[in-house]
Amino acid sequence: MLKAEKTVVVYRSKTGFTKNYACWLAKRFNCTLLEGSKVSGKELSDYDTIIYGGGLYASGISGIKLITKNFEQLKDKRIIVFAVGASPSHKGIAEELLNTNIPREQQDKIEFFYLRGGFDYTRLSPFYRVLMQLKKIQLKKVKKPDADTKGMLASYDHPLDFTNEKHLEPIIKSLLE
Ligand SMILES: Cc1cc2nc3c(=O)[nH]c(=O)nc-3n(C[C@H](O)[C@H](O)[C@H](O)COP(=O)(O)O)c2cc1C
Repeated sequence: MLKAEKTVVVYRSKTGFTKNYACWLAKRFNCTLLEGSKVSGKELSDYDTIIYGGGLYASGISGIKLITKNFEQLKDKRIIVFAVGASPSHKGIAEELLNTNIPREQQDKIEFFYLRGGFDYTRLSPFYRVLMQLKKIQLKKVKKPDADTKGMLASYDHPLDFTNEKHLEPIIKSLLE
């Protein structure tokens, strides 16, 4: 049985999409919600269930080191990690991201999920805006752009938001089991 006072949702979100999911989860379980940059591994060890969400940047989960670097003190906890990216979900994406972001020896102890977020160029910091302008140049060079490439290009002018509370169902189901 999940105890609200022993459960924490931690997130790192540059443009708000991961924060949406984290807020919905914390509300659903009436548990603590913390912004990851202000949290230490020691603070996390006060909880039995740790749910960590981070936005995806070049396949890296924002702030995931909070979990992986403090794994020794957290390894007896229940740990759920979710990554939030702009790409559509596809078979195998969770496994790919797990392998890229979580050391092999920690993988058995961490439940991992991928959720689709969105893309909002206007909310990016100047550094990431420059990176994304370079990406735009690449995308424009694609000879036969598929729907995702076209969607990505369009999103520079019109933000995309695929966040939906329903996408949290697999995580909620697992937490309630
Ligand atoms: C520089 C940069 C790199 C990105 N890399 C990826 C990526 O590798 N995979 C992906 O699905 N989305 C990628 N995205 C999109 C973000 O993951 C997406 O906007 C996500 O919803 C951001 O969540 P956040 O606002 O909570 O940080 C990238 C965005 C930027 C600006």
